[in-house]
Amino acid sequence: MDASDIEKDLAQIHYTEEQILGKLRELATRIEQDYEGKDLLIVGVLKGAVMVMADLARSFTRHVEMDWMAVSSYGSGTKSSGVVRILKDLDTDISNRHVLIVEDIIDTGLTLTWLVSNLQSRGPASVEICTAFRKPDAAAKMALPVKYVGFDLPDEFVVGYGLDYAEKYRNLRCVATLAPHVYS
Ligand code: XMP
Ligand code: MG
Repeated sequence: MDASDIEKDLAQIHYTEEQILGKLRELATRIEQDYEGKDLLIVGVLKGAVMVMADLARSFTRHVEMDWMAVSSYGSGTKSSGVVRILKDLDTDISNRHVLIVEDIIDTGLTLTWLVSNLQSRGPASVEICTAFRKPDAAAKMALPVKYVGFDLPDEFVVGYGLDYAEKYRNLRCVATLAPHVYS
């Protein structure tokens, strides 16, 4: 779905598909350099990270294994609480493996902080984070280092490129804020 297909729903386009793909190619190049000579398992967090995983993985010029986790974070409203339940665990034993978690967006970072400590307890060789987008809270306050960040976003709810509002807009190619009438 292109922005032009749902023009009336969108208030502002933050990043186009071309900009996102260009940035993921840059990140893939950095990641390849950092993991040279090492095997790499990228772990996508369902469902939001599906698009990022697909495009990042295809940007690599080397082999990379892919696995998936689904977690639900309990929270009131739109902010997460850091209390997390695993809905789908990895199929892979990650002991002594280099793991790169791939996320769509980091807001408070609470979900990811929990996920990293959960994966760390399984004895991996390393755990790092790659996110396509980051909100100001995460940029300012998150204790956990995020090694690979695509774009910083303002503190607004965005949709597209995997990100949803009530399970819609995930298949929008760009990342955008919704027009107020969509929420009402
Ligand atoms: P925390 O706060 O734990 O939460 O970093 C990250 C998760 O919250 C969701 N999230 C969003 N989803 N548009 C969305 O569609 C947004 O602007 C947004 N901000 C946070 C998302 O599931 C992310 O993984
Ligand atoms: Mg997510």
